[in-house]
Amino acid sequence: MDLAQLTSDLQALRGRAVDAAATAADTAALEELDISVLGKKGELTAVLRGIGALPAEDRPKVGAIANDVRMAVEAALAASRTRLGGAEMAARLAAEAVDVTTPGRPVRRGSLHPIVETAREIARVFAQFGFQVYEGPEIEDDVTNFQMLNIPPDHPARDLWDTLYLDLDGRLLRTHTSPGQIRVMHKEQPPIRALLPGRCFRYEAVDASHASEFFQVEGLMIDEGTSMADLKGLLDQFAHAMFGEGRATRFRPGYYPFTEPSVAFDILCVICNGEKCPACSRTGWMTILGAGMVHPVVLRYGGIDPERYQGFAFGMGVERIANLRHHVIDLRAYMEDDLRFLGGFR
Ligand code: PHE
Repeated sequence: MDLAQLTSDLQALRGRAVDAAATAADTAALEELDISVLGKKGELTAVLRGIGALPAEDRPKVGAIANDVRMAVEAALAASRTRLGGAEMAARLAAEAVDVTTPGRPVRRGSLHPIVETAREIARVFAQFGFQVYEGPEIEDDVTNFQMLNIPPDHPARDLWDTLYLDLDGRLLRTHTSPGQIRVMHKEQPPIRALLPGRCFRYEAVDASHASEFFQVEGLMIDEGTSMADLKGLLDQFAHAMFGEGRATRFRPGYYPFTEPSVAFDILCVICNGEKCPACSRTGWMTILGAGMVHPVVLRYGGIDPERYQGFAFGMGVERIANLRHHVIDLRAYMEDDLRFLGGFR
């Protein structure tokens, strides 16, 4: 191996490498080229291996040429990297472009369950008359659910409430929110204006109009000189707020052991306006709640002197009110958690 041969090998390598860099198809080809020419096991290193055979004075010359070749190839690689890298980046940006003007996917918003929404609406109306919300327990004892409400054991009125009993020392699932009256009386002194929303339970065969779980809202007002007229006036205001300003109402005689007198409160049928349709059993009226003047015996059980104070109470089924507001006909829809139903209330 002589100087001339080595020099011409180096120049040939330079020519080939610079050409290859200029014509490479992509940056991956450039990296391969870089390794195969300038790498540790590359062609340049291979050529320089012959340097040992040269006379000592020729070696620096070859070294200088080899340096030139390395720099030339590096420069060619760098120039091609810039060119190809830019094109590849541009192609990738074009391929992965995101259209920021595309409308987003709709996000489904939650909504209140129609029973909760209706119970809140009821509470909102009564709040305007100073009624405060209280809550009683779902597990009650016989004394509070029945006896203090003037319903002794074995009283035939117990048939009004088909009761679910627990295996716990005579306790039961409350059959109505009325035991809350007793709890409020034990806690507060008159004047009392309480509203008691809550879940109730009865032993029922479930169908479109019966459920074993349902919601009630109980109302209780106790003060000096509270009368039936106050009750009627308040319930009229409620009916107007819920079902429209001119909605006609009426009291009918009713029976509950814990109120005397007791009434059923009707509104003119919201479907036929009194024309008598199937929705109102052809009576023209719909009963929306039970009410009455709190029985003196119940006031006394509540620790309140019936000689000084009078009160009224009312209790309504929230499902019934929701049905009338939203024209739902099957109670089971409230328990089925079907979003097609639940999403329909905003
Ligand atoms: N608790 C009665 C029921 O569930 C409703 C009611 C409440 C009636 C308050 C009168 C007074 O049927």
